[in-house]
Amino acid sequence: MTPDIGADPQKEFHDRISARNLAALWVARRGVDISKPKSPAVAALWRYDDIRGDIAEAGDIVSAEDAFRRVLVLENPAYPGEMRITNTLYAGLQLVKPGEIAPCHRHSQTALRFVVEGDGAYTTVEGERVRLSQGDFVITRNWSWHDHGNDSDGDVIWLDGLDTPLVDFLDTVFRDFYPEQAHPLTRPEGDAAARYGTGMLPMGFEAESIYSPMLRYPYAPARAALDKMRRAKSGWDECHGLKMRYINPASGDDAMPTMAAFLQFMPKDFSGATYRSTDGAVYCVTEGSGRCIVDGETFEWGPRDVFVVPGWHEYRLEADADSVLFSYSDQPVQQKLGLWREMRGA
Ligand SMILES: [Fe+2]
Repeated sequence: MTPDIGADPQKEFHDRISARNLAALWVARRGVDISKPKSPAVAALWRYDDIRGDIAEAGDIVSAEDAFRRVLVLENPAYPGEMRITNTLYAGLQLVKPGEIAPCHRHSQTALRFVVEGDGAYTTVEGERVRLSQGDFVITRNWSWHDHGNDSDGDVIWLDGLDTPLVDFLDTVFRDFYPEQAHPLTRPEGDAAARYGTGMLPMGFEAESIYSPMLRYPYAPARAALDKMRRAKSGWDECHGLKMRYINPASGDDAMPTMAAFLQFMPKDFSGATYRSTDGAVYCVTEGSGRCIVDGETFEWGPRDVFVVPGWHEYRLEADADSVLFSYSDQPVQQKLGLWREMRGA
């Protein structure tokens, strides 16, 4: 009888015990390189001009009420059908047309909004109405009632960023529908900004939540701050330019526990140093134009484009004009677990 030269008794053992829901670690991991992260997600860019027509068509074929949320989800090309832009994050562009209401609900996922086009829509979070203007960043704490509406006379489109894949992974998804379309207004507009957005806190303030008590971080003062810092010619980062983090003013921590959000300025002809970090980031262009070079592949961006750089992919940024980028990532989760790393230079 001829011996089977290719037989691997250890592999045979591994395969045989699988019937008892067992795996031999040393066989299963054989040849697998786990020396560094290798996210299956890929870098990708959605040019706003290319997809604006699709967003408009969505507005023609379904109402906000029927869709519940009229969103075109930005799916990572590596994850078709999975509704995620990185392993842990969701991104979508939501359209609310004049007169529409996206009905009230709440869920265990955390959400952020970043207004891409239009002014005058609103979101109501736990009874406080928040007006949305271009470039505004708005947070929706998990398990807070929220509905959206648009009483302006133009379309409003914003980027929704959620931690949905992370919450799915943890098996912690809950959702609830409010009995009415819209939550009653129980606090005056601007209340959170007045209490927490002036560099002061009410006497006796005690945090009720690990989320920022702020709801809206308006674009105009953030943009003015970047402009002022630019003139001071200090605080520049060789990779990111002038980059600011949206924070919880009561703690100095990130505005949300699962997602960090940033706004960064890069001057004309900025050429950033090579960078990588373990958190994959979703970028939305507010002003300017330039490119992101990821693992040698170039993605040209302009106003309102969205692009994603997965974790531990080497990239750098260049700007052709004065440019402002909004971005978000799961950095706070990684940092709190002691897992976050970054590397500058190739
Ligand atoms: Fe929601």
